[in-house]
Amino acid sequence: MIRRVKVPIVIGSGVAGLSTALGLHESIVVSAGALGSTWWAQGGIAAAVGGDDRPDLHARDTMAVSGGIAVRDAVDMLTEGGPAAIDRLRELGARFDTAPTGDIALGREAGHQRRRIIHAEGDRTGYEVMRTLTEAVLGQPAIETLEGWRALDLVRVGQRVVGIVVADPHGDREIIESPAVILATGGIGRLYSHTTNPPGVTGDGLAMAARVGVRLADLEFVQFHPTALDSGLDPMPLLTEALRGEGAHLVDSEGGRFMIPYHPDVELAPRDVVARAIFWQLDRGLGAFLDARVVDNFADRFPTVFRVAQDAGLDPRTDLLPVSPAAHYYMGGIDADTNGRTSLAGLWAVGEVASTGVHGANRLASNSLLEGLVFGALVANDVAQAFELPADISEFRSGPAFDLPLTGSGIEEVRALMWERVGLVRTGPGLWDARNRLLELDNELRSNLAGRVAADVARLVIAAALRRSESRGGHYRADYPETDLFQANRNLVEPISIDD
Ligand code: SIN
Repeated sequence: MIRRVKVPIVIGSGVAGLSTALGLHESIVVSAGALGSTWWAQGGIAAAVGGDDRPDLHARDTMAVSGGIAVRDAVDMLTEGGPAAIDRLRELGARFDTAPTGDIALGREAGHQRRRIIHAEGDRTGYEVMRTLTEAVLGQPAIETLEGWRALDLVRVGQRVVGIVVADPHGDREIIESPAVILATGGIGRLYSHTTNPPGVTGDGLAMAARVGVRLADLEFVQFHPTALDSGLDPMPLLTEALRGEGAHLVDSEGGRFMIPYHPDVELAPRDVVARAIFWQLDRGLGAFLDARVVDNFADRFPTVFRVAQDAGLDPRTDLLPVSPAAHYYMGGIDADTNGRTSLAGLWAVGEVASTGVHGANRLASNSLLEGLVFGALVANDVAQAFELPADISEFRSGPAFDLPLTGSGIEEVRALMWERVGLVRTGPGLWDARNRLLELDNELRSNLAGRVAADVARLVIAAALRRSESRGGHYRADYPETDLFQANRNLVEPISIDD
């Protein structure tokens, strides 16, 4: 069935998708229904609202951790848009934590030289952001939400994206033809066996874009959060970086603070540095624990962490918390400018699925909710000005989305492989191994859509990681441990269509 609509379609209902939909007023939002990454976000929103702070200082910190390749214009737009984004959220009814003076309370996280992290209910910021945006969207009759629907493919005719293939909640497929498609589908964290990301964050948007030949960027840069609670759960519960901002330390099995030799900022060193240090500690069997016993009023200030620790039989007020790094955020994605425009007309990308270069090789803590808010508004503005009525889609050749079952086997093996070979410490031989193993699994993976997405995205990440023969930000090659000045560039990829 083909449905023809005259309004933009937003795929994804996290902070970026809903911010875009709100800015557009009239749109259709395709929402898979599960609670996506934003709902889970504990760490807050970074914005230069403090008396001692300015957007240019926030920009300087963002650039400093980015491995030297963040795009300055994008960083300036992000940080300059911060205070207004917070005001907009408050106008919509968001309630943030306040100091005794009544001003917004500001926390500190790694890489920030000022206190500028805004939280809600301690560590429930993502929940508050989503509660606010969801209520605003539901109160906007011109926004239609397709709840429980899944976008499976993009429809490309010539040099233009003209619609999407979707599955309704019963799995029946249809085409929706639209003048503007905005991908806001999030990252790829679930392709790793160790991840803080909830189910569904499997790189679907990236794979859809690759299948129709959209330009991608910086695919090697995966961010691993240093401190996930190592209690055997999937996803691994996050122990927010704000705990370290409040004085929690990392210690080994003997109680020694192992970060001291790694970086002058010790536990508040950039995220990639702390994550690799913990990885090496664990690899050498020396243990890694978060000692958060110094944090006052733990249960009130960090209720989510307190609950997940208690569920694991631990009391953070008296016990050390065993930690492991875990895949958390993706800096790579669909190459997009700050208006979300991609290499194909009719297609925009926003939030984690987009790679605007705003994070470079390593994202500064708490810049991702801000990214969704700021760029969501910019993308909406651009789409409203630029969209054209749909082209004729009679030439459209149906892709794999029509023929394959949605799920099947093979994915757990990909997740283990990505963690072991394409994780925090990579080598050329390890990456080639992963590539070859994926080829061995190809038939099994290509028999279902989820497997095909996993295989395609994993291959793209591996190819990019092989191309970058240096270490930078989230990408560390043990066989090229230094940063190479001659590779201080973004890594743009023109995919030949991987949909054979
Ligand atoms: C955290 O709370 O540590 C996560 C924040 C982020 O990913 O920016």
